[in-house]
Amino acid sequence: MLGAAGIADSDVMPAIRASSNGRLVAVASRDPERARAIASRHSVPVVSPTYEALLQEPDVDAVYIPLHHSAHKEWALRAAAAGKHVLCEKPLGMNAAEAEEMGAGAERAGVLLMEAFMYRFHPRPRDFVAGLRDAMYVNATFGFTLQDPANFRLRRKLGGGALLDVGCYTVSVARWILGEPVAVAASARRSDGPDGVDLTVGALLRFAGGTTASVWASFEGPEEQELTVVTKGGRERLERPFSSMQPNPYQLMVESFAASVLGGQPVALPVSDSVANMKVLDWIAREATIS
Ligand SMILES: NC(=O)c1ccc[n+]([C@@H]2O[C@H](COP(=O)([O-])OP(=O)(O)OC[C@H]3O[C@@H](n4cnc5c(N)ncnc54)[C@H](OP(=O)(O)O)[C@@H]3O)[C@@H](O)[C@H]2O)c1
Repeated sequence: MLGAAGIADSDVMPAIRASSNGRLVAVASRDPERARAIASRHSVPVVSPTYEALLQEPDVDAVYIPLHHSAHKEWALRAAAAGKHVLCEKPLGMNAAEAEEMGAGAERAGVLLMEAFMYRFHPRPRDFVAGLRDAMYVNATFGFTLQDPANFRLRRKLGGGALLDVGCYTVSVARWILGEPVAVAASARRSDGPDGVDLTVGALLRFAGGTTASVWASFEGPEEQELTVVTKGGRERLERPFSSMQPNPYQLMVESFAASVLGGQPVALPVSDSVANMKVLDWIAREATIS
């Protein structure tokens, strides 16, 4: 674990402990006290003094990177160069170029790299998408109120912004259902100042054959998550598409990743898909003038 992040503490570390094929070996944080505390909560045997020291631990086969978004590329590349497989939180990088660089670094080092898009492993959205026929229109939303002014998501330099943080899910599901868009229009509202971020983003995507999607991401509204698909035969809806919890999607994801590592097989979510997702996020950012 590179970083004593909230998501590691609440979901991913418990998922690895519950998994059939993974084991928590070491944790590192900028703050040694927080590292010791999270290690003790999750019975992690080694507290490494720095991220770099963790990468030199011989018992570590793979690292999970739950750092703020602008640190993903650096630490994924450093982990790969140290010979560790990498499970990296979403979004894989800050943009498609970074994601491509990360994929190339992993390939060069002969290690696996996968974006931790846990919702793709849950049977509820998987069954929903598999059951769709002749989809014509997708509406996907993901929003919540971000109350903590110190959160990295509100700082541009740390890779903040609603598009990267939750828009990545809405674009991912639209692409999962309709493929790659051929046109994009978008608009954003942002916070003030040079370190300000996009707080709310809406985009319209057009796909080959004239199908369309509307995606919306926000830090300003109430808790909001929905997927609606209009097909030629009717309307299908999935509430809370990105955080179904039974069975545990984090455990399904870490077990899939560990099985790829142990079996020497490709990961279930290829980097090429993460790059394609980031290309659409880049496009939206350009259209909404937030990049
Ligand atoms: N899949 C999901 O369900 C899900 C849910 C939430 C978040 N996420 C993703 O997980 C990642 C972490 O999110 P989180 O909410 O867990 O974040 P978080 O609690 O703020 O932790 C992020 C980590 O990044 C480092 N960090 C944070 N702010 C920093 C700063 N100002 N300067 C330098 N380092 C800083 C810290 O590492 P140290 O411990 O070393 O200080 C911190 O532990 C993000 O990529 C996010 O998109 C995924």
